Amino acid sequence: MNIDELKSTAEQIAAPQKGILAADESGPTIKKRFEPIGVESTEETRRRYREILFTTEGIERYIGGVIFYDETLRQTASDGTPFPKLLWNRGILPGIKVDKGAKALALQPGNKVTEGLDGLRDRLAEYKQLGARFAKWRAVMEIDEHDIPSDYAICANAHALARYAALCQEVDLVPIVEPEVLMDGAHDIDRCEVATSWMLARVFAELDAHGVLFEGMLLKPNMVIPGKKCPQQASVPEVAEATVRCMRRYVPAAVPGIVFLSGGQSAEDATDHLNAMNAMGEYPWQLSFSYGRALQAPVLSTWKGQEENVPAAQREFHKRCQLNGLAREGIYSRAMEAA
Ligand code: 13P
Repeated sequence: MNIDELKSTAEQIAAPQKGILAADESGPTIKKRFEPIGVESTEETRRRYREILFTTEGIERYIGGVIFYDETLRQTASDGTPFPKLLWNRGILPGIKVDKGAKALALQPGNKVTEGLDGLRDRLAEYKQLGARFAKWRAVMEIDEHDIPSDYAICANAHALARYAALCQEVDLVPIVEPEVLMDGAHDIDRCEVATSWMLARVFAELDAHGVLFEGMLLKPNMVIPGKKCPQQASVPEVAEATVRCMRRYVPAAVPGIVFLSGGQSAEDATDHLNAMNAMGEYPWQLSFSYGRALQAPVLSTWKGQEENVPAAQREFHKRCQLNGLAREGIYSRAMEAA
């Protein structure tokens, strides 16, 4: 484990003003994103769509890393440049989703555990050869009845995240550790805070037990937010305060950056929440973004698979990157959306 390399990679990805583009949608997920805009998911449409994102001018000011899916890491731009090289040339670090998805946890109805540890050491070595400098593993916890997520599901997911993170650091890939409490459901913000707190406490205990270097990782959590079906939605300051309280309690100061997922929030809400947290004060970690939907939804609805829409789609993408860059500094305002 090269401690200096891990630390500098993590700091580079989450440098001030910068965040991450999560473009690591699996085959079924990208199909789901393309369906509403009438685009068939083929290897070529997926390649072209990712190329539109990666070649948008000026995003390197705001994007420090891009998370790829296995297929994308092996694809090339129209001029033949491999995607990882294209990003390297722009000063953006390529990363790779390495988990194999959340599966039903045996004897724990309603709970899931993320799989993908078997053979992971070999896959990481290959991804490193292909240009990746960091990796991502996502655990998902749904909030449902009182015993979901169960203690056991939280422990099983935390253990898998720690084993993955240790394997990454063994070959100097920065692990992005993503324990996601989903915002599906009708739970209120307090229930989300309890589940998120519990998950983070377990995750850091396991990371520590596995010898993972906190300085050489990034945490990708959910924000503390009510479920989408909860009648009592929270204001922007409420989300920011609950999220910051939870992070202060459970995330060690040695972790260089917290890069939030957007989890189904609108693009504007995700930017607003990040901004409010950064406007509230100084933190031991960078507070940044690793958004999938909140960066890409406006791009997809503008592109619609039509070449003539590419310049407008790239303008939308640049705008979202820029506004999230401002939210990193706490100087975004909702009025900027109209500009
Ligand atoms: P969202 O921002 O759309 O939640 O995606 C982030 C991600 O990488 C989920 O694993």
